[in-house]
Amino acid sequence: MSPADGVTAAYDRIADAWRADRDTNGFRERVWVDRLVGPLAPGAAVLDVGCGCGEPVAAYLAGRGFRVTGLDGSARMLDHARRAVPAGVFVHGDMRTADPGGPFDAAVAWDSVFHLPPADQTRMFARLAGWLVPGGRLLISLGGTADAGFTSDMHGQTFFYAAHPPAAALGLLVAAGFAVEHWEVDDPDSRGHVAVLAVRRP
Ligand SMILES: C[S@@+](CC[C@H](N)C(=O)[O-])C[C@H]1O[C@@H](n2cnc3c(N)ncnc32)[C@H](O)[C@@H]1O
Repeated sequence: MSPADGVTAAYDRIADAWRADRDTNGFRERVWVDRLVGPLAPGAAVLDVGCGCGEPVAAYLAGRGFRVTGLDGSARMLDHARRAVPAGVFVHGDMRTADPGGPFDAAVAWDSVFHLPPADQTRMFARLAGWLVPGGRLLISLGGTADAGFTSDMHGQTFFYAAHPPAAALGLLVAAGFAVEHWEVDDPDSRGHVAVLAVRRP
């Protein structure tokens, strides 16, 4: 049993509260999403890995005319996502094993992969590369601490988080087939939260 296995069930239990929080917390990452999709053609296929309640990211992408597929392990979060993005395709499953279809022109994994242990994160980098077309674009956020695992509580539920050291994570993305286009610590107040834009090498 991995410490990550209970995460999506915990999201099931807080889905309504998370949805309300997401409304009030704003769309801070929009600048990153805009950089992700800027070079894409109209109607390009975009995968949202750990899409949560579909807002704001998947809804924004659909509103810009992209074909959105969302993948999440929480059925209750997906209930919200399906309501928020009626045109989207939503797949219920664990990102470590699920098949979301594709290939995709871009993928976003915002604040989802950091719920996996480091070894699973490494394997996810390869899965993400495999879901993208050559030249496909990736936006991923990661924890900034070199922490092999810690827990934090939210709405009475306990959530597991982990991170490679940022320099190691970038190297692992390269080893998985990506060229890193840009990265930065985008939220120093949140354990050094890191945002990475990368491109799958041809
Ligand atoms: C912090 S929320 C972020 C949701 C969304 N990306 C956002 O920005 O609002 C993390 C999401 O990742 C999903 N998740 C966590 N671990 C997962 C896993 N192993 N497989 C699929 N989804 C997972 C959770 O169910 C949850 O919806």
